[in-house]
Amino acid sequence: MKRIGVFTSGGDAPGMNACVRAVVRAAVYHGLEVYGIMRGYSGMIKGEFVRMDSASVANTVQRGGTILKSARSQKFMTKEGRQQAFDQLVNNGIEGLVAIGGNGTFTGATIFEQEFGIPTVGAPGTIDNDLYGTDYTIGYDTAVNTALEAIDKIRDTADSHDRCFFVEVMGRDSGYIAIPCAIGGGAEIVMVPETAMSVEAVIETLQNSYSRHKTSFIVIVAEGEEEGNVHNVARRVKAALPQLDTRVTIVGHIQRGGSPTAADRLLASQLGIAAVEGLMNGMKNVMAGIVDRKLMYTPFDDTIHKRKVINQSFMRMVEILSV
Ligand code: F6P
Repeated sequence: MKRIGVFTSGGDAPGMNACVRAVVRAAVYHGLEVYGIMRGYSGMIKGEFVRMDSASVANTVQRGGTILKSARSQKFMTKEGRQQAFDQLVNNGIEGLVAIGGNGTFTGATIFEQEFGIPTVGAPGTIDNDLYGTDYTIGYDTAVNTALEAIDKIRDTADSHDRCFFVEVMGRDSGYIAIPCAIGGGAEIVMVPETAMSVEAVIETLQNSYSRHKTSFIVIVAEGEEEGNVHNVARRVKAALPQLDTRVTIVGHIQRGGSPTAADRLLASQLGIAAVEGLMNGMKNVMAGIVDRKLMYTPFDDTIHKRKVINQSFMRMVEILSV
């Protein structure tokens, strides 16, 4: 293999640039030519390729977002779109790909390889940390710290005004962001999709805390929570406990931006290098990840179909610490 391409796809995540930088520099180090593919699969279809060298990723390790931009491509989901992407890669002599993204990205790469034989090695780039095959995804640590910073600020107002705040954090259909936010942010309750918690149980916990003369409360609600959205939860609690002065805050897309933490820069750098070396060693349809501090390559099929399990003892910790 002489020439590879690298792209970012799906939702952007802090540390994606550090990963692109690691891919480019590892490729240069090993004597490969490397092209940046702009806007993920969408740019691949259109042939938006940029030759990259060591200097093109200078001063990017600390930057949020992705210099390669990102997109979710409908066209790549069609055979015709994938054929166009393949033609563009062949015309530009690109023989292998590093994909930085999540499950949607890896699903596309798997189908593409099966149809056209272009090998892809992935690096997990998503704030959601919902990928099987790595303990942490690139961007997760930064997103949790961003959300925590917001929650600390919300707590100031909750405390000053004796209020009950319902705070929604991201995570798609996982509670990985919500749980450390609840533990680190001193929340009374955390609602996550992985564990059934009824609004009635939330009401009972808040009622008990109120009876113990607590005056301010934080309830963290993961966006994928099954009891409905955060406004719905807050409305039902207020109806049952009118004595509470309730407010809702959605932390939102600030969780996706910002300069990556040290942990994310390190992870992104490690996995970027691992992805290039995996490709060079003939790997395909696998994601580089860190499991129990060891580098692992997990088949895309497992990252897509297996579910990473949330440690239930964390839920108990929230209960104990909010007593
Ligand atoms: O996957 C990252 C993520 O931020 C999820 O947590 C969230 O559900 C989704 O993307 C939001 O997507 P969009 O930026 O398209 O609104």
